[in-house]
Amino acid sequence: MISLVKVRNHNYKFISAKPFAPNLGAEIYGVDLSKPVSDEQFEDICQAFLDHQVLFFKDQKEIPPDVHIAFGKRFGKLHAHPAAPTMEGYPEIFEIHANENSKIANGEFWHSDVSCDEQPPLGTMLQIHIAPLCGGDTMFSDMYSAYDALSKPIKKLINGLSAKHESEHLYRGRYADRGVDDTNSTFPAADHPIVRIHPETGRRALFVNRTFTTKINGLSPDESSTILNLLFDQAENINHQIRFRWSINDMAFWDNRCCMHRAIWDYWPEERKGRRVTIKGDRPK
Ligand code: SIN
Repeated sequence: MISLVKVRNHNYKFISAKPFAPNLGAEIYGVDLSKPVSDEQFEDICQAFLDHQVLFFKDQKEIPPDVHIAFGKRFGKLHAHPAAPTMEGYPEIFEIHANENSKIANGEFWHSDVSCDEQPPLGTMLQIHIAPLCGGDTMFSDMYSAYDALSKPIKKLINGLSAKHESEHLYRGRYADRGVDDTNSTFPAADHPIVRIHPETGRRALFVNRTFTTKINGLSPDESSTILNLLFDQAENINHQIRFRWSINDMAFWDNRCCMHRAIWDYWPEERKGRRVTIKGDRPK
């Protein structure tokens, strides 16, 4: 059994939020993201983002790229992806795209976006414009509750430990079929605490993922892999997850500091396409 934290439902005045699960996610109604949002709505969105960790903006129109970029910039400087190609004319936008010719789809394994960066992304905003008839869901996992549900002795062991997050193994050659020549590129790696404190909520969140985290610093290889596997299993435990089914033009905005996600590529040879704007974060503490 997991303990359910009381649903955090502030009295938002300018948006309406329907919790997706008691611990994670909310559908947001009453905002039109295809136009600049008012300061009042923006304030409610910021609060809802902290309360629910991932927001699903429903009933949206297609957001023009410059409006999407401007909305992202209201949360902070934008993050440049170290490997992926960008949308023509919009270097701030990463196009998520898979179709019958694709060899890979983005985000197929659990991860927090680009956690290999020294300052990994605060959050990511993805709007999907082309969706398969069914499938192509995105799963999210709550890293606050993954941490909270650990036993006291394991919490004691991991608080104070750091882990290496690397990306060479993932990014080298990954986008060759989209015209990227990365022969002279180097890819980021960074050490981060295994348990990070969210800079805005002050809550502790597990911060390891199977995509980027390669070892725990200061432990032997066997100790590191045993403990990392325990933590990966905890982070991926179904008790902490939700699964979002997209409708055309839904926009998801997730907090990479306290949740992970995984995109399900079960729709080949159908097409799925969207635009992603990512906001730079701070160095995890
Ligand atoms: C990603 O940004 O990791 C991909 C998410 C998705 O396509 O749903």
